[in-house]
Amino acid sequence: MRILLIPLVYLLVVSYTDTHPTDGLALTFSEQFNPPALNTSVWNYGYPWGSYHNHRANTVPRQAKITPEGYLNISAIRERTITLGILTDFGPIDLDFTSGAVNTNGKFCIKNGYVEVNLRASDVQSTWPSVYLIGEDQTTVPMITIMEVFNSRSRFTYGFRYANDQATAEDESYTADNRETSSGFHRFGVDWGYDQITWYYDDQWVKTIVKSNELKQVDNMCLVISFGVGGKSKDTPIDPRAYPTLMSVDWIEMWQPKYDGFYKFENTHTGFVMEIESALTTERARVLQWHDNGGDWQKWHVQYAGHGQYRIFAAHSRQALDAYGWQTNNGAPLIQAVYHAGDNQLWKINEVDGSPGVVQLISVHSLNQPGPGKLVSVPASSTDAGIQLHLWEEVNNADQKWKMIRL
Ligand SMILES: *[C@@H]1O[C@H](CO)[C@@H](O)[C@H](O)[C@H]1NC(C)=O
Ligand SMILES: *[C@@H]1O[C@H](CO)[C@@H](O)[C@H](O)[C@H]1NC(C)=O
Repeated sequence: MRILLIPLVYLLVVSYTDTHPTDGLALTFSEQFNPPALNTSVWNYGYPWGSYHNHRANTVPRQAKITPEGYLNISAIRERTITLGILTDFGPIDLDFTSGAVNTNGKFCIKNGYVEVNLRASDVQSTWPSVYLIGEDQTTVPMITIMEVFNSRSRFTYGFRYANDQATAEDESYTADNRETSSGFHRFGVDWGYDQITWYYDDQWVKTIVKSNELKQVDNMCLVISFGVGGKSKDTPIDPRAYPTLMSVDWIEMWQPKYDGFYKFENTHTGFVMEIESALTTERARVLQWHDNGGDWQKWHVQYAGHGQYRIFAAHSRQALDAYGWQTNNGAPLIQAVYHAGDNQLWKINEVDGSPGVVQLISVHSLNQPGPGKLVSVPASSTDAGIQLHLWEEVNNADQKWKMIRL
């Protein structure tokens, strides 16, 4: 038994101590909810589509307040502000409560990156606190749920909603157990790019899903913070004596990818640019250094894959920068290959020397192996045009540094 336990513990340590990545990301939005009032150049009251949704509270601005301590406190009270007679998936809407919601629609929405919210949910089990991202078109497909709590306060649910091949909404939803939500403040984060979505709780990795096809539906996403009553919590009886109750949001950060678009990579030692040999469009064509001649085979489409990682496509072939045969050894040759979102085709882009735009390209697959990570390098610092690039461990040479020139 003891022999079995050791490798298991080792695996858990390796895969679950991952904190949220900031590599290749820049902090572009930081909201502290400073008094006296909600900043309406960033926030709207209610939902993007109006004042109510699929639960029993109508939202009004007065229930979403900035407090003198610098919180956004959203309160739910038993008070009827409007009457409706409609049915939803979660039961009849009987709007006999009043609460609050806020959203950034049309004011601050991001295509991808990392969003983190530090909040305390209400301890009343019939409330439905939630934080999610939806498109600027105000529909709920696609939707990335950062967190929602219904019934139990010691777990939260998160997920991704997208349109499937039949164009109907499909929900992929998960529950993280043994996570406190109402005892003190906790950090709920989500990172998403063109391939992956990753959730975090208190800066610890929770889950990653790869959804390259479905993420094509995701464009600018806007934040919604909502404090529902009933709804998904409908199985928990509403005890009116538990109200008023509140959820508090302390701060929010949003990080965005530093790179998105077409670039040339110019070696800081040789001055040559990274290219595909002879503009070949065949798989496994070699990646070389060569004189800059403006060809599309010397232009690279850089996109944030998620989880602090980038994918890099040759513009002329749409094939990806790839370390041949999943090699991670010093000298592993670089080629182009059809993209399959594998770790041997994913790269960390790290700025070096404090110079914006001068970077190292580190193979993600090599980072998952024992030993040092491997960088896109010029073999033996060669100044010959036409030499094939390869992976090599960091030796702090100029031939491992690339100037990213935005096209
Ligand atoms: C409101 O938000 C905008 C945009 O982020 C910011 O420039 C401005 O300083 C904020 N105003 C206050 C009072 O914080
Ligand atoms: C806002 O929420 C915080 C934390 O949950 C709480 O300590 C504080 O009393 C609330 N402030 C007001 C004015 O309700």
